[in-house]
Amino acid sequence: MRPHPITDGISWVGAVDWDRRVFDELVPVPEGTTYNSYLVRGTDKTVLIDAVDPAFERVLFDRLATAGVERLDHVVVNHAEQDHSGALPALLARFPEATVLATSKAKGLLVEHLGVPAERLQAVEDGGRLALGGKTLRFVHFPWVHWPETMITFVEEDRVLFPGDLFGSHLAFGTPLDADPAATLVEAKRYYGEIMMPFRKVIARNLPKIEQLDPLLVAPSHGPVHRQPAGILDAYRSWLADTPRNAAVVAYASMHDSTRSMVRHLGEELGLRGVRVELFGLVHVDLGKLATALVDAATIVFGSPTVLGGAHPLVASAALVTNLLKPKARFLAVVGSYGWGGKMKDQLVGLLPDLELELVGSVLTRGTAKPDDLAALDLLAATVAERHAGLRLT
Ligand code: FEO
Repeated sequence: MRPHPITDGISWVGAVDWDRRVFDELVPVPEGTTYNSYLVRGTDKTVLIDAVDPAFERVLFDRLATAGVERLDHVVVNHAEQDHSGALPALLARFPEATVLATSKAKGLLVEHLGVPAERLQAVEDGGRLALGGKTLRFVHFPWVHWPETMITFVEEDRVLFPGDLFGSHLAFGTPLDADPAATLVEAKRYYGEIMMPFRKVIARNLPKIEQLDPLLVAPSHGPVHRQPAGILDAYRSWLADTPRNAAVVAYASMHDSTRSMVRHLGEELGLRGVRVELFGLVHVDLGKLATALVDAATIVFGSPTVLGGAHPLVASAALVTNLLKPKARFLAVVGSYGWGGKMKDQLVGLLPDLELELVGSVLTRGTAKPDDLAALDLLAATVAERHAGLRLT
């Protein structure tokens, strides 16, 4: 296990998890992931930026040994979550001289979650600097990406940015500099939708801090290093912007094909009116793809049969997740079929209290859709297209 040079005096010494397929028992990671750790060597001090998932601490130690690291002055913790700090206790035991540099909020989390001894922890101020000899670290507090304690670290001389989870992607790689930028952006968007989107507004407020740093390389804690920072920065500006795109997401379940035929009809009518549409059958859905589609969508449609008086549990779950992810969508519609009544629509609307959505229509039918129902779906598609046109969405 060798270190991978990023630039002069800075190497990647992390771990690649080719086989991981789910994160947090919730988030699919079909392309695996990486836990990135970076070694920064000055003439006076050696620093490790972020550690790895505890399951991979041997890989980290192996790379450090191959790099000839016998002493670590500091471990910088940009983010206290266990996939980046879980190896800390072993690391601090292996390097008893090392102290941990983190925000004051992170200190508490590291003590509580990992049992890191408080005397090994040192808080860094926002804008604080640390001279390593020929290299200077700058610490910039950047809260809520996606925990409250997060910060970013910048090597001033080389203009390399270590933003923690921000700009990351769950994408395994052979070496961190050689990934295809287009493929990385695809996975970075999925990662943004799954992890960062709920914090869109606070990230947008803090983004100028990174623009001022003007990095040459962006080295996140998951996935490949961005060799062309403009690509990921432009993408984030677009994803973070308040204005959605001319797109609709339709998430549905169907027990006897009535709701399925309705959402397919609606999807086609939306497409004919120029609205880009994606349908997600929730039985086999990849939640990451749904989250990715929600990044840009202006309209969300839920399609559900009525089950024991309410929404199908899969659709209710999707509504709950959508509310948690806080997408920028503006419009909502509910369609579906029922046997003898129920409160499916009201239940779904009630599951979205944190979103500012205008309910632009609902089409609920008893049994299968009749000509009148299809006409109502056509009208709903026209209404959605008109709302999008009114906002001049592209
Ligand atoms: Fe990759 Fe928030 O940990």
